[in-house]
Amino acid sequence: MKLLNFGSLNIDYVYDMPHFVQGGETATATARHVYAGGKGLNQSIAAARAGAQVLHAGAIGPDGAFLTRLLQDAGADTSALLQVQEASGHAMIQVTPEGQNAIIVYGGANHCLTEAYVQSVLRQAEPGDLVLLQNETSQTAQIIAQAADLGLRVVFNPSPFPAHPEQLPLERVDTFILNEIEGALLAGMPEEQDGDVIFDALRSRYPHAQIILTLGSRGVTAWLGGQRYDQPCFTVRAVDTTGAGDTFCGYYLAGCCQGQAPAQCLRAASAAAAIAITRPGAAPAIPARDEVESLLK
Ligand code: RIB
Repeated sequence: MKLLNFGSLNIDYVYDMPHFVQGGETATATARHVYAGGKGLNQSIAAARAGAQVLHAGAIGPDGAFLTRLLQDAGADTSALLQVQEASGHAMIQVTPEGQNAIIVYGGANHCLTEAYVQSVLRQAEPGDLVLLQNETSQTAQIIAQAADLGLRVVFNPSPFPAHPEQLPLERVDTFILNEIEGALLAGMPEEQDGDVIFDALRSRYPHAQIILTLGSRGVTAWLGGQRYDQPCFTVRAVDTTGAGDTFCGYYLAGCCQGQAPAQCLRAASAAAAIAITRPGAAPAIPARDEVESLLK
């Protein structure tokens, strides 16, 4: 079983800030770094480092060669990547001394996916494969619909949260992986809600779906195979939380592809995310499998 990821690829411009810049304020960054990122790329790298077979589909511009190389170095198959003239997607990320982030994403090449491209990539899917997508590329509705038509299991990480979720065929999603803010929005409730309230609302709104709700330092609550799971988080000192959710997602799905039990997948994914937040950057912070095994021991 492989993971077919229709995923964004970004160049991350990361600014170390004393605090998040406010409206009307000019603030000075204490450092700037350029890293590989994009929720899709991060998730593929995590899944590949965890040992899964990963086919990454997406688009990059002339400036994106290093993104392709990084995916390849992690062991992901990049043969389906689309090379376009539009500049690669990028993100501007503020990181505070507490390791919290605020992100602006610009789609760029990620928005050059076409329906025909989606169709051609899905021809490489085999029964049982997992199809993963986020909300940083074009064609999200088509990817969900076409993959579901082929009988493939669709995993949707609705991040950033879609402006018009009602336009997506969400009833065809097999598994949602999302954080509290995305969960509340998807459940149609105010953002400031208790995790359990959001979880129950998602379950009643999408009774057919599996749900993995990440709750930051309060761990993860999931509904998988008709059963509830609660996975506490591993306590570490946060340096940069960027990409922690992506690391969790990639490691979790790698475990699924490898036939591991849900509790085992959630535990390994939480350990991987914990390691990722102890390091700067998104993609560069994603741990190798043996580092995760060491923490689990
Ligand atoms: O989830 C973190 C990612 O979000 C960053 O790498 C950035 O590119 C944005 O896509």
